[in-house]
Amino acid sequence: MRLDGKTALVTGAGSGIGKCIAETYAREGANVALADVDLAAAQPAARAIGNKAIAVRCDVTQKADIAAAVAETLAAFGKLDILVNNAGTTHVNKSMLEIDEAEYDRMFAVNVKGVFLGCQAVVPQFRKHGSGIIINIGSTAGLRPRPGLSAYNATKGAVHILTKSLAVELAPDRIRVCAIAPVATETPLLPSFLGPAQGQREKFIATVPLGRLARPQDIANAALFLASADAEFVTGNIVEVDGGRTI
Ligand SMILES: NC(=O)c1ccc[n+]([C@@H]2O[C@H](COP(=O)([O-])OP(=O)(O)OC[C@H]3O[C@@H](n4cnc5c(N)ncnc54)[C@H](O)[C@@H]3O)[C@@H](O)[C@H]2O)c1
Repeated sequence: MRLDGKTALVTGAGSGIGKCIAETYAREGANVALADVDLAAAQPAARAIGNKAIAVRCDVTQKADIAAAVAETLAAFGKLDILVNNAGTTHVNKSMLEIDEAEYDRMFAVNVKGVFLGCQAVVPQFRKHGSGIIINIGSTAGLRPRPGLSAYNATKGAVHILTKSLAVELAPDRIRVCAIAPVATETPLLPSFLGPAQGQREKFIATVPLGRLARPQDIANAALFLASADAEFVTGNIVEVDGGRTI
């Protein structure tokens, strides 16, 4: 198994991509803490994995919540090797003039500040341990932005540059920092990305060279590689899992 003896903390693990990453890591031998602002979603997901998993309530926009999630993970499993900053949100696809200030602030609080706080919370632990891996979930939206998602797209661009910044800053500590940029993925967030107009799904699929949307397992497979020893010389990458969409 590729993650035997490792411990991972995955944010936003009550649903979609984060849940699939947690399940995949556990299948590969890791202990996993499933952190989510929606504890009622994280709990059954952790129970389904079994005694290699715990559920933790954590709002990634709150520094104290993230510190508590890291502490709970350490209390349960004794160490922490991998952080997946996956928790994220979007606004519905619409004109930039219709995005109000509160919505804009919320995008940046969850998608950017949440990632930054997550990194700050684990780095002292990783330094003590002498190594660590951070995987941030970015998006093709931050590489090839399309209309209607302006604020969301900007947050993902920020996640990508934060990833590269931290990769160079933390490399001397043997901490690797990578991001994954998924294309539109079959999760509960998808309808917001596509927007209310008829036929958006089919139109979008037509722009993906491999001819389908992503599935959570596609993203989890990349997250498994990045967390594994196979990726020991890989840092600062934005790994596109997009069926060729950004070419
Ligand atoms: N679905 C897509 O098309 C797609 C494409 C590219 C990138 N992404 C990114 O993938 C990540 C996961 O999205 P998903 O599609 O699985 O969505 P999802 O809605 O299925 O899951 C997101 C999870 O994050 C949790 N969450 C939201 N705000 C939180 C907060 N403040 N603190 C802690 N948890 C919080 C939610 O409760 C939910 O369980 C996000 O960062 C998203 O931007 C998604």
